[in-house]
Amino acid sequence: MSGIKIKGTGRSLPERILTNGELAQTVDTSDEWIVSRTGIRERRICTKESHTGLCAAAAQNALEHAGILPEQIGVCIVATMTPDTLVPSAACTMQKALGLSCDTVCFDLNAACTGFLYALHTAECLLAAAPKKFGLVIGADLFSRVLDWSDRSTCILFGDGAGAAVIEWRAEWPSAGAVLGCAGNSELLRCPLQNGYLTMEGQRVFKFALEAVPWCIDRVLERQGLTAEDVDFFVFHQANARIIDLAAKKYRIPPEKYCKNIERFGNTSAASIPIVLSELEETGRLSSGNRVLLVGFGGGLTWGGALVEIA
Ligand code: ACO
Repeated sequence: MSGIKIKGTGRSLPERILTNGELAQTVDTSDEWIVSRTGIRERRICTKESHTGLCAAAAQNALEHAGILPEQIGVCIVATMTPDTLVPSAACTMQKALGLSCDTVCFDLNAACTGFLYALHTAECLLAAAPKKFGLVIGADLFSRVLDWSDRSTCILFGDGAGAAVIEWRAEWPSAGAVLGCAGNSELLRCPLQNGYLTMEGQRVFKFALEAVPWCIDRVLERQGLTAEDVDFFVFHQANARIIDLAAKKYRIPPEKYCKNIERFGNTSAASIPIVLSELEETGRLSSGNRVLLVGFGGGLTWGGALVEIA
């Protein structure tokens, strides 16, 4: 035994809402096509907000909900592939913005849309050895920065946002038992650092996701010795409503046990899982002792699942 629980969550979304109708005025698409293929109706896009600003607001929100002070944080990890600057890292920027102690371990991690799960697992491992037992895990991405706004196959899918979770590690708590995977592939999903945009072979990524999601669920349940009925909430990466619906059908997950917010935010990459968690907490749907199964997948290719309890 030894592991983490979630103490509090937070989120921050840009103000500007970009609707499907607006996109249909600039690329050859329609609200009907986007809704039926993806479930997305609108997304948030940064106009005046920065990555730093969204991360700080989401983190402050999570610290408040957790009732934890910045100086109690031992580890701060930002999962992202679109930070404001490569150096300083977004996590180092958070050290200053939030007033974290100078002995806090702060760094960024890139596992694309699976970033939050990679970061949660890394934080659990680091907290086991850290003197301070609270961790801050932030997932944030501003894909509006890396999209080709004339490419209808990608520009309709993504939105900007940040989500955060404060976790606590205790020797007597169970591990989140993360299962993480990676298969290097530079064809299906790619985003070069210079002179280019995000490109994706949507249909092939869709097929990969249809295999990755049940693989993650099965491995997590197996590792924990549980069945799907023992899980209180399933939180899926919000990449496509059809992927979530198929998983819900396969595991017979009743509607009150999972959540789709892709309709309002699109795919916010590393932010999508903590944004869902934060909405669940804010609407009073999470209670102490709840078991939440998280599932993510995305560029890399990467995938991951974990079972985390609410403190
Ligand atoms: N509007 C209208 N037509 C479109 C649009 C659009 N926005 N985009 C593509 N089309 C057209 C295509 O050109 C194609 O036309 P054709 O048949 O004449 O060639 C047709 O629609 C079908 O295209 P597909 O790509 O086969 O459409 P599909 O049903 O697969 O849906 C989608 C595309 C939504 C991208 C889907 O494949 C998907 O969700 N993939 C998974 C994405 C994902 O999970 N990403 C996660 C990781 S993201 C990360 O990690 C960064």
